[in-house]
Amino acid sequence: MSAQSNIVIEIKKLKREKNAIILGHNYMDYGVQLVSDFTGDSYDLAVKAMKTNAKMIVFAGVYFMAEQAAALNPDKKVLSPDPNAGCSLSDSLDVDTLKKYKEIYPDAPVVLYINTSIYTKALADYIVTSSTAVKVVSKLDAKNIIFGPDANLANYVERKTGKKLIKVPPNGRCIVHANYTKQLVSIARKKYPNALLMAHPESPLEILEAADFVGSTNQMIKFAKESPNKEFIVATELGMINALKIQVPDKVFYPLVTTEACGCARCPYMAMITLEKIKRSLEEEVYEVKVPKDVAEKAKEAFERTIKILGDNK
Ligand code: 13P
Ligand code: SF4
Repeated sequence: MSAQSNIVIEIKKLKREKNAIILGHNYMDYGVQLVSDFTGDSYDLAVKAMKTNAKMIVFAGVYFMAEQAAALNPDKKVLSPDPNAGCSLSDSLDVDTLKKYKEIYPDAPVVLYINTSIYTKALADYIVTSSTAVKVVSKLDAKNIIFGPDANLANYVERKTGKKLIKVPPNGRCIVHANYTKQLVSIARKKYPNALLMAHPESPLEILEAADFVGSTNQMIKFAKESPNKEFIVATELGMINALKIQVPDKVFYPLVTTEACGCARCPYMAMITLEKIKRSLEEEVYEVKVPKDVAEKAKEAFERTIKILGDNK
């Protein structure tokens, strides 16, 4: 038996013993997705955490995702296999910067992308995902709207809603998606003439304008399943190909950027979550994600306000 199958067996045994589940983000390694009880995008997984009866949740994703699951589920033990698994977007916005913007524009609603720390989320009015940002902003009747930290997503929302946003910080970027260019798209289009291009809204506007479909990681899975097309070019982090292969096995997926072409294809933070660390997390019950009660409550209020404004339009 291989070392990989041994570790999978041990993880499954530990899950049963500890009454634990693993929530895995769509960008995780293939093996991590296979041991996960649920896979999904950042928001979907936090909601899944609310519905489980398990006592313990190991969050196989980057830290802001685990933090958000912990804030929404104060009664459960949420573990991060590696709390150093950050996110360039989340790291680009701190509480003091956001407070300064709020002072300059006291009447402006604050709309934050889910890729932020729980401490900044606690200062927000709305928490959006790549699938809900356009819908939420289009419903806000305000002269000024503070939006952060992803400038690419902000540009996309501006284009879709016709509204001008105050970007905080002005230039927040995902270190993976920021590398996508029109040139890469034309190379891929020539190589795969029958494929449709799916792009994540963290990509630059020129990619989004060239794409056949723009959406969150979960929305890409849905689009690929429902489309009559058989082949897809995927403009998002490389791990997404694992989720697509597992969930849409009858279709073919080509990453826009491969590891051979660029060291930027794989998110270095997502790659930090390994089967070995998940096993240790379950064995030693580390690292518990703790969010102060007042912070968690404020962030949760912003989530609930967002769900309310979206109504049936999620
Ligand atoms: P999703 O919420 O669409 O899964 O995206 C999270 C992320 O980090 C994208 O880079
Ligand atoms: Fe953050 Fe980009 Fe990695 Fe997603 S892919 S976790 S946005 S750095």
